[in-house]
Amino acid sequence: MEASLNRALNHYKSLRENEAYQSRLEEMVLERTQEILKLKDDIEKLFDGFVKASVLAIEARDPSTSGHSSRVAELTVGLADAVNRTTTGSYGTIRFSDQQIKEIRYAGLLHDFGKVGVREQVLVKAKKLAPERLERIMQRLYQRDMEIAVSLMEGAWKEGHPYESGKFQHLLQERRGDTQRLVDLIQRCNEPRILPQEIREALEELDELQFEHWEGQASRILEGEDIAALRIAKGSLSDEERDEINSHVTHTWRFLSQIPWTGGLSQVPDIAYAHHERLNGRGYPRRLLAEEIPPQSKLMAIADVYDALVAADRPYKVAVTVPRSLEILEDEAKAGLLDAEALKIFIEGQIYTLTIPRAQ
Ligand SMILES: [Fe+2]
Ligand SMILES: [Fe+2]
Repeated sequence: MEASLNRALNHYKSLRENEAYQSRLEEMVLERTQEILKLKDDIEKLFDGFVKASVLAIEARDPSTSGHSSRVAELTVGLADAVNRTTTGSYGTIRFSDQQIKEIRYAGLLHDFGKVGVREQVLVKAKKLAPERLERIMQRLYQRDMEIAVSLMEGAWKEGHPYESGKFQHLLQERRGDTQRLVDLIQRCNEPRILPQEIREALEELDELQFEHWEGQASRILEGEDIAALRIAKGSLSDEERDEINSHVTHTWRFLSQIPWTGGLSQVPDIAYAHHERLNGRGYPRRLLAEEIPPQSKLMAIADVYDALVAADRPYKVAVTVPRSLEILEDEAKAGLLDAEALKIFIEGQIYTLTIPRAQ
C-alpha cells in the first residue's frame, strides 16, 4: 500500500517537473522567436533607412525633381494593387504577392538612383548654353562694342576732328543699342522651346560676329560649340548630354546589383533597369521589346512619365495639367510606347490622384 502510494507520488512529482520544464521550454522558444522577429524588424528598418538615405542622395543632386522617387513608388504600387483587382484582359491573370508589391516599392524609390553618376551641370541644365559660356559671350559682345566705337573715333581723329567726350558717349550708346538686340537674340535662342526656323535666321547673324582676341587675331564671338548648342531643336541638351542623362538607368542597375537582395526582392534591379524601355523597342538603354520588359517596369514607366509631366519643378519644362498629362500618356500608348491596358487601369482606377496634392 505504502509502495504504491510512493509510486503515485513520484509519478505526480515527475509530471509536475515535466510540466515546469515544458513551460520553461515554451518560454524560451517564445523569447527566441521574439528575438528573431525583432532582428528581422531591425534589418527591415535598417534597409528602409538605407533606401531613404539613397533617395535623399538623389534629390540632393537634383533638388528640382524632389519627391519624384517617392511619388513614382506610390503610383506604381497603387497601379500594381489595381492590377491585382483586375479580372479581365492581359492583366486579369497577373497577381502580385505582398512581397512583390514591396519589391515594386523599392524599385520605384531607387529607379533614378543612377542620377548620382551624372554630372550635376548636365542634370540641372535648364538652358542650351551653360551659364559660364553665356557670360563669356556677353563679355565678348561688350568688348566688340568698345572696339567698334574706338575705331570710329580713330577714323574721326585721322580726318582731323577733335576729341569730343559727348560724341564718344553718343557713339557708345548707339553701339549698346545694337548689342542689346544681339543679347536678346542669343537669350531667345538659348531657350529650350524656340522654333527651329527662328533659330536658323538668328544663327546666321550670330555666327558672323567677331572680336579681337588678346593675341591679335579676329575671333568668333560664338564658337562652334556655342552655335551647336543654340541649334538644339528640342530641349536644352546636346546629344552627348542627353546620352549622359540616359546613362542613369545603367548606373541604377549597377548600383542595385551590388545589393544582396533577399526574401523575394531579387527583381528590384531588373524592374528599375527597364523603367525607360518602351513596348516598341524605342526605349533605352537595351531597346527591349514588349515581351522582354517585366510587367512591373511597364507600370513604372506610366508612373514615371506621368509624374515628370505634372511635376512643376523640372528646370527645362513647365508643369502640364493632369487632364493634359493623361492625354499625352494616351498618345504615347497609341504610339506603342506605353502599355495601353495598364494605362486604362491607371486612368479608370484614378491611380493618378494618389499624388496630385504633392506634384503640383
Ligand atoms: Fe529615369
Ligand atoms: Fe524617374
